[in-house]
Amino acid sequence: MSNLIAGQKVHEHYGGVVPELASRAHLQNIVPVVDAAIKKAGIRVEDIDAIAFTKGPGLLGSLVVGTSFAKSMALALDVPLIDVNHMYGHVLAHFIDDEEKAKPAFPFLCLTVSGGHTQIVLVRSHLEMEIIGTTIDDAAGEAFDKTAKLLGFPYPGGPLIDKHAQHGNPEAFEFAKPNMKGYNYSFSGLKTSILYFLQNQEKLNPKFIEENLNDLCASVQRSIVNVLFQKVCKAAKELGIKEIAIAGGVSANSEIRTRLIEEGKQRAWNVFIPKFEYCTDNAAMIAITGFFMHQAGMHADQSVSAQARIPFAPRSTSASQKN
Ligand code: KG4
Ligand code: ZN
Repeated sequence: MSNLIAGQKVHEHYGGVVPELASRAHLQNIVPVVDAAIKKAGIRVEDIDAIAFTKGPGLLGSLVVGTSFAKSMALALDVPLIDVNHMYGHVLAHFIDDEEKAKPAFPFLCLTVSGGHTQIVLVRSHLEMEIIGTTIDDAAGEAFDKTAKLLGFPYPGGPLIDKHAQHGNPEAFEFAKPNMKGYNYSFSGLKTSILYFLQNQEKLNPKFIEENLNDLCASVQRSIVNVLFQKVCKAAKELGIKEIAIAGGVSANSEIRTRLIEEGKQRAWNVFIPKFEYCTDNAAMIAITGFFMHQAGMHADQSVSAQARIPFAPRSTSASQKN
């Protein structure tokens, strides 16, 4: 009924998220943002049926703030508590029901690309999903952000690469292509190849980046998008699935969105692209996942704790909490 975000500008200075500053900002923001969300929804706190929160994966300090707050609020209101896996949230953002939009039919494939993850997920039902491909090193978002840093952009640089790429030639420069088996990804080779390329060019011309910024952005973006789609196309073909979705912060990228539409036309796919506000991290995706879990009776108790790394499952069992 409302979907608010308390952004954190503080990290821009440091070229990345500083975990300790992030958790302090969470502490400062959580009461005001929950309060504002309740007001915006036009409800009373007593109207809330259940509290869903992100248990993980993510930065532990920030997760602890959210988890503690959710547990306290569920206890105070005497309502069920639902521990959501953040990565399920990204996929299930497709089911947020605020517009007359077709929803993906099961089974479908979802390319989840965010700052921390790159996954091809086989989605069998709302709560049955399997990762069939993932990155062995950097995530797609990191490939964008780390390259952006090399180009001199502030954090997060992904959206700035996107912006400059629109005025550049994507064929101007070519970078290393990963050669991964199956549906897995690797982005560290690409990053290194960009780094060495820039270092060599800057020796010849100290203004190389400045003079070629748009072409560099367009070429980097094209390389990343090619890598992403090569595996998605392979998976779709081999599994015979024609319902293809994208999710996660990087799916806000304009080339990824248009490429999915183009590939979809060529390959007779039904494609699903979330609204911008449901691509990057948001509260509604956790709420919708909580909704499906609530229907399935999947509730947590007060012993639940935040976890930086969790297995890819709607609930992580205590047996699998070792990692
Ligand atoms: O899902 P998300 O909001 O947070 C995580 O859970 O990681 O994803 C954030 C990532 C960042 O790496 C950011 O640079 C990237 O999404 N991103 C983009 C664009 N918008 C956000 N990358 C490329 N192009 C964009 N337009
Ligand atoms: Zn995310």
